[in-house]
Amino acid sequence: MLAPFRTGRRGGMAGYQETLDRLKRVGQEHLLRFFPTLDDKQKSGLLGQIDALDVESLPALIERYVRNPAKHAPPSGLQPVDAYPHDAKSARKPWDRLKYKSTGESLLRAGKVAAFMVAGGQGSRLGYDGPKGCFRAGEVSRRSLFEFFGFGIRRAEQQYGKPVPWYIMTSPQNHASTQAYFSEHRYFGLDPAGIRFFQQGMLPSFDMRTGKVLLARHDEVATNPDGHGGSIAALEKSGAIADMKRRGIEHLSYFQVDNPLVRTLDPVFLGLHAGAPDSSGEMSSKMIPKTSPEEKVGVFASVEKNGRRVVDVIEYSDFPPALGRETNPDGSLRFNAGSIAVHVLGVSFLEKLAGDPNFELPYHRAEKKVPFIDLETGEHVAPAANNGVKLEKFIFDAIPLCRASIVLETDRIEEFAPIKNATGVDSAESCAQIQTLRAARWLESLGAKVPKKPDGTPDCVLEIDPLHGAEPADLRDRVQGLAILPGERRVL
Ligand code: UTP
Repeated sequence: MLAPFRTGRRGGMAGYQETLDRLKRVGQEHLLRFFPTLDDKQKSGLLGQIDALDVESLPALIERYVRNPAKHAPPSGLQPVDAYPHDAKSARKPWDRLKYKSTGESLLRAGKVAAFMVAGGQGSRLGYDGPKGCFRAGEVSRRSLFEFFGFGIRRAEQQYGKPVPWYIMTSPQNHASTQAYFSEHRYFGLDPAGIRFFQQGMLPSFDMRTGKVLLARHDEVATNPDGHGGSIAALEKSGAIADMKRRGIEHLSYFQVDNPLVRTLDPVFLGLHAGAPDSSGEMSSKMIPKTSPEEKVGVFASVEKNGRRVVDVIEYSDFPPALGRETNPDGSLRFNAGSIAVHVLGVSFLEKLAGDPNFELPYHRAEKKVPFIDLETGEHVAPAANNGVKLEKFIFDAIPLCRASIVLETDRIEEFAPIKNATGVDSAESCAQIQTLRAARWLESLGAKVPKKPDGTPDCVLEIDPLHGAEPADLRDRVQGLAILPGERRVL
């Protein structure tokens, strides 16, 4: 098993010579190039960081993922997934929405569900200085992403009368600042005893050309968090799984830190995951229909793996383009099931995976701009083009390990407006527009009036307070007879 960071240290930290010898054996001795120039504190910091690194596993990792990145073989036997349609009355696969909603609500009322947020990413595309969750997602309220999720969870606690524990994965790079933000904001009114932060693992970042591990500073190895797929090991290692079992938690509602529209605890989805005849209750997913074959989202498909037909997520860059363009007789895309990174995970499934010595999610390779120290000049370099390779694990690679896994179609405007980029697609601006569209839709369904621009879009900025509603009916009393004024900015 390739695990570049060791889980346990040998008794006592290794000294300079021992560390140098270890590094030489794997061709990474340059990491100590500036050692003689460091002060004592820096020296021990660097030796400690390298000591925690499983350098012996690096050559195999570098060979496989950095120097000779194999193009992923197209998965075999690709077929569309048989997702539960958004319209539960659809002739293709009719299902009983109310029944599953009630199953999910029973789980929430019994206190068997926790929220699980992965927030360890670097958010480099957004370029925000601080944990991404502190970024403003409320165009009118100025609320942060964390506040949106916190209020959503608080509402569910009020509605179902049971505490909902919240597990939050951070990375060493943002752990302290994330905790500080929660504390400064009084945990958004939640009981801090129910909130558990834990850190994910880190991996070294590599020079794309040579496969050498990069130095971030003279006294620091360049590292990156090991991907949201690192959460399974991190949940186990941090004691979070044991904590869930103590609290009687059976299912985790998984979401990412960037999408303020996510239903933090969706009873319908929980109910399908736990109760649908074709679900194993191990791991379930939500999807939205792709807007075009080119849309850059992973696609759910049914594939053959190890003699079994399983659900898998194929990254957009790996999806065979011709197949991606195929259409159904009604013109819709055959492979339209775009992933929005929303899942429910069974706690016993996580426990099974984490306890299996052979369990390992694959690494994915991403070429990125990684600032580094030039070994010849000792200067810090901020590269203009991609120079480095970061390796990450993805949580969705656990889906094919399920005995069976279901996918639920949902509506883009209702549930998906991630903030990934500083401008353009998936930015704060596009997120605010989608929030307004969603709120306008809810208001109109309740008979309220929303002003429109000549192009038919709302002539106002609207936001729904997650404490007030998770679905339109929750706002009924609040919006009775309401007429929004042109240009009005309002939180509902
Ligand atoms: P992204 O794929 O958007 O990555 O993460 P990112 O690191 O946040 O942003 P970029 O690519 O640098 O711009 C999707 C979700 O997975 C979490 C992120 O915090 C986000 O919620 N994540 C990602 C982790 O928790 N750990 C990781 O190592 C990577």
